[in-house]
Amino acid sequence: MQTDKNQIISELNKISDKDLGLTFGELEAVKSVIVTDSAVQVAVELIQPIQWIYSDIKSQIKNKLNELAPDHIHEIFIDEKNTPNTGRNELAGVKNIIAVASGKGGVGKSSITSNLAAGLSLSGAKVGIIDGDVYGPSQPTMYGVTDERLQVTSLPDGSQMAVPVEQYGIKIASMGFVINRDEAAIVRGPMLAGYFSMLFEQVAWGDLDFLVFDLPPGTGDIQLTLTQKIPLTGAVVVTTPQEISLADVRRSITMFNRVKVDVIGIVENMSYFTPDDMPDKKYYIFGEGGGKAIAKEFGVDLLGQVPLNIAMREGNDGGMPVVLSKDGGNQKEILKDITLKVVSGIRKINYEKSKIAAPTIEL
Ligand SMILES: Nc1ncnc2c1ncn2[C@@H]1O[C@H](COP(=O)(O)OP(=O)(O)OP(=O)(O)O)[C@@H](O)[C@H]1O
Ligand SMILES: [Mg+2]
Repeated sequence: MQTDKNQIISELNKISDKDLGLTFGELEAVKSVIVTDSAVQVAVELIQPIQWIYSDIKSQIKNKLNELAPDHIHEIFIDEKNTPNTGRNELAGVKNIIAVASGKGGVGKSSITSNLAAGLSLSGAKVGIIDGDVYGPSQPTMYGVTDERLQVTSLPDGSQMAVPVEQYGIKIASMGFVINRDEAAIVRGPMLAGYFSMLFEQVAWGDLDFLVFDLPPGTGDIQLTLTQKIPLTGAVVVTTPQEISLADVRRSITMFNRVKVDVIGIVENMSYFTPDDMPDKKYYIFGEGGGKAIAKEFGVDLLGQVPLNIAMREGNDGGMPVVLSKDGGNQKEILKDITLKVVSGIRKINYEKSKIAAPTIEL
């Protein structure tokens, strides 16, 4: 059978990036197809991050080549399309920065941050966490690194940078590694801004697929400044289902809209409780349906509903996010599903950015 390069290209262009709901043709994903007597080499470029879609895409390409060039050797290269980076030199190696925010304190922002970061790392992505809570940093506890301090290293150019603490392959920088609680209580205004700049500008993050930022709770000056200064890819807003918490979520979403940061979606936490011995029961301790209502009101996605769960609470206190633990059952699956939805949301945002960044012809 004659192997036709154009036919291969046109068949490849029909493959779908299901996450984005777009074909390779629409994405201009096929970069090259080289056909020789014995081999077909295909190179495609897709919107990052690609870790989650890689094997599905690879098998779709493989199937096409099995059909169209069964007697050839197949070489398949899947790369990330370059998206404009964060625009800040010191974060040049960081591909995506996700803020986890809430209007109200105590709704589980830090728990969602730690599990989201851990969930992202499970697919081989390089992940970092910034714990921006000066007055109550939680990530050192949630990752079991409370005794750590940021170490300083000298770069080849002579400048000094702090090295993030690493746990379970995840890089962590927390206010808790910089100042202790008693000192933190008196930190205000410009001094606070200085500490934040430090976490972004003087920490050697290196290459990261994701930097997850546990924002301090609230929608005050600090949050507004941070969301303006830091090149966020998007924000995840955490809430509990009841009305009093939802009023704060509205403020939080409005803040992100104001600073033109995309809201990836809402995570409703502490949605219900299912006792281990009654797996079919759901007790709606903090009310019901709030996350769904607010997602509808603002036209954003409800990324998931996270039940109150003992293993998750124990993981938070015990230094290992439940997503990484051997136990954790359904709770893990719910959190992993949320991670997948966050990844999809980020890919959609990056796709929109790539369209804006496409070169324009000047007349
Ligand atoms: N789904 C859950 N199931 C069980 N416990 C949870 C859950 N989510 C959070 N918690 C627990 O609730 C408490 C508050 O959660 P967390 O510290 O994540 O909230 P936060 O929004 O970051 O709070 P803060 O405003 O103080 O930063 C913690 O003790 C945490 O372990
Ligand atoms: Mg917190």
